[in-house]
This record gives sequence, structure tokens and C-alpha cells, in this order.
Amino acid sequence: MSYWASLDRKLIMHPFTRFRRELLNIPVVRGEGALLHAEDGSTYVDAIASWWVNLHGHAHPYINAQLKQQLDELEHVIFSGFTHPPAVKLAEQLLGKLGSPYQQIFYSDNGSTAVEVAIKMSIQYWKNIGENRPRLIAFQNSYHGDTFGAMAVSERDVFTEPFHQHLFEVVYIPYPTEENFNQVLSALENHLQSHDIAAFIFEPLIQGAGGMRMTFAALLDELILVCKKYDVLTIADEVMTGFFKTGTCFAIDHLTNKPDFVCISKALTGGYFPLGVTAFTETIAKVFQSENIRHTFYHGHSFTANPLACRAALASLELIELEYTAEKVQHIFRMHQQAAKDFISHPLITEVRTMGLVLAMDIQTSFQDYFYNNPIRDVLYREFIRRGIIIRPLGNVVYVLPPACITDEQLNRIYAAMHEVLDQLKM
Ligand SMILES: Cc1ncc(COP(=O)(O)O)c(C=O)c1O
Repeated sequence: MSYWASLDRKLIMHPFTRFRRELLNIPVVRGEGALLHAEDGSTYVDAIASWWVNLHGHAHPYINAQLKQQLDELEHVIFSGFTHPPAVKLAEQLLGKLGSPYQQIFYSDNGSTAVEVAIKMSIQYWKNIGENRPRLIAFQNSYHGDTFGAMAVSERDVFTEPFHQHLFEVVYIPYPTEENFNQVLSALENHLQSHDIAAFIFEPLIQGAGGMRMTFAALLDELILVCKKYDVLTIADEVMTGFFKTGTCFAIDHLTNKPDFVCISKALTGGYFPLGVTAFTETIAKVFQSENIRHTFYHGHSFTANPLACRAALASLELIELEYTAEKVQHIFRMHQQAAKDFISHPLITEVRTMGLVLAMDIQTSFQDYFYNNPIRDVLYREFIRRGIIIRPLGNVVYVLPPACITDEQLNRIYAAMHEVLDQLKM
């Protein structure tokens, strides 16, 4: 048994990992492009970009070189009373990429904290202008992270169950489809009339952890518009969708009506460091630019705007231009679309969806519970790992979300493994 794997099992509790005495985590010792090399010499194609964070590939020489330089200049500095060039450059570039109407950003540590910041700022925005608005609206089936605020606006399910009594009140509306849209719109409008709603938070265009469910920009545009009509703030959680998951750099690039907040993380640093950004408009910023000390946003993390993380993000933004990332994503999307045509005719597949970097499909199962105790998920996961492919199904939803650097040969290997595993599946 591997030294690292056995010591790992003794010392470390892993995220979202059910305890099983017989299962060991695979020690990875090297990465290169879309490939991960394990200690025992086996190789894995990272078909899910290491939880949707990796954009240009593992151990990218350009990001590595930039980080080596940064290490010799400045590794970290307190971000209260001090600043540093990578943080300022990154703010300028991100705001440039996001475009109008975003004017400022707040740095934090990861996706959950980027969401947490948006939730807290939206509630405090109303307090600062003399209103008490304690509730938020979210979509059913949403996932916004694992800190308390982020959990509160996520779907109340088995993952959050032990904490339900500690979560603040959130109103849920169904995820919009062409079929249910009028119902969703009128449910939203009803809730907005209560005048105690601080904000409406949503994952734009794709609900990631909720099963890669997709919707249309035109529907979201209408929902945002009605929020604006009732003067309720809107928060786009782009933690998963940011950086080409939907085809464009941000999912909000597809929208005409822009939300008040945008939360970004995951692929922001190209997959190198945890870093969270919450971007917001001038209207929001102004309410916190007050002489009244009670109007200050009292929130911060020790590693806020870590210079290495900011430098990795800057290098990743440069690579987006240098490596034609948008074009590569278009190419992957076309390959996904072609592959989808073959998958949809498979008798075990009930639906196939594609958008940007994402190819997702629902596998027919007699287990109604999407995530919990659905044995199909574990069978599929193990079969993909056996074939050297990292795919973590979400219940009965199998998806591919590769780094943009993936080669055609690697993508075809993934599709072939998916066909093979599906063909073997006994229901
Ligand atoms: C939409 C969305 N928001 C927030 C998060 C939380 O991000 P993190 O895991 O970095 O805390 C995730 C993570 O998957 C996510 O998909």
C-alpha cells in the first residue's frame, strides 16, 4: 500500500468524501496539461478540471514562471492599510473584463467567501440606507458554497440538513425553463412585493453542483428586470460559470440586464490558488463610502488578496489572450455537440446538454434521490477511474468540464470511456 495513501487515510478527512475503510485517495505527484500523474505511475485525464478550477492545464510553464518571480518580490502583505501592484492590476483588469456597470471589487479567499461577501454586502446595503431587509431569494436546487451564508441560500438538502435550524430565511423559486417560466416569474414577483427582500442570488445559465442544469439568458434577463422594478438587488454567482464554462468569459456576458454583484473564484487563478472576488456597481460602493463608521463593511480574511494568488490570476488572464482560450473553448463546445449526438441515442441516457466547456447527460435510474445513496454514482466514478479518467458524476448526472488545454485525442478518450462504461452499466 502506498505510504502517502495510508498516512492520508489516518490523518486527513477529505471534502465530500463518505468514510469507507476500503477506499484510499490516489496520491498525485505531477501534473501536465490536462493530465495528472499518480505516484504508482498511472495517469489520469482531468475531465472535470479539478473541480472546475483549472483553465490552461496543470503546472503551466508561464504561470509557474510568473509565480517564481512573484515569490522573490513579495509573498504576502496585510491588505488593510496596505496594497500591492498585483492586487491593483488584477482589480483593473477584472473590472475591464466585466465591463459596465461594475466599478469596484472586494477580495476574499474562495467561492463560498465571494458569495458570503455579496450576501453580507447586500443586507448591509439596505441597513446603511435605513431599511431592514433580512430575506433573500434563491433558486431551488442551487449550490452556493459551504459557509453559513452560502449554505443558507443553497438548496436545503441532505448536505445542509444538520444546520437547517441555524440558517437564515430564504425564499426559493423554481429554476426557470421555457415551460415553467410564467410560473417562476409570477412567484418571483409575489415575493418581491413583500419589501423585506435584500437580494436575489442565482447561478447564471448553469446550476453546477445541482446537476449541470442549464437555462436561457433571456429568461434570466426577465427575472433580473423584475428585481430592478421592485428595487431588489441581484447577485450572479459566477464561481462555477466564470472563465468560459458557458462559452463566454463570464455567463453575465450573455445578459442584457446586469446584476448588482458578481461573485468570481475557481478558475480565476487558472486553478493555482484559492482566491475570491466580489464585484459590484457604483451604487453599491457609494453606500459603503460613508463617514459613519457603522456603514463600514467589517469583513476580511488574513490572506485577502494574497500577492501570489493575484499574480497567478494576472498570468491566467494573459494566457487567455496568448493561448486563444475563447477559440479553444468554441472548438471543445463543437466537439461536445458532436459527441452529444451519439450519446442521446444511448438507451440509458434520458437527456444530453451542452454549453461552452460543459457536456452533461442524465442517466436513467430507478433511484429518485439525485445525490444521496444513489449507487449509480459510485459505480460510474470507479469505472471512470479504472479507465484513467477523472469524472465525478453528480448523482445520475455524468458531465465533462475539461481544462481548455485538453487535446482532441484526450477528449475522444473521455467520450470513448463514457460509451464503454454506459454500455456495461446494468440497471
Ligand atoms: C456556484 C458555486 N458557488 C460557490 C461555490 C463554492 O466555492 P468554493 O468551493 O471555492 O468555496 C461553488 C463550488 O462548487 C459553486 O459551484
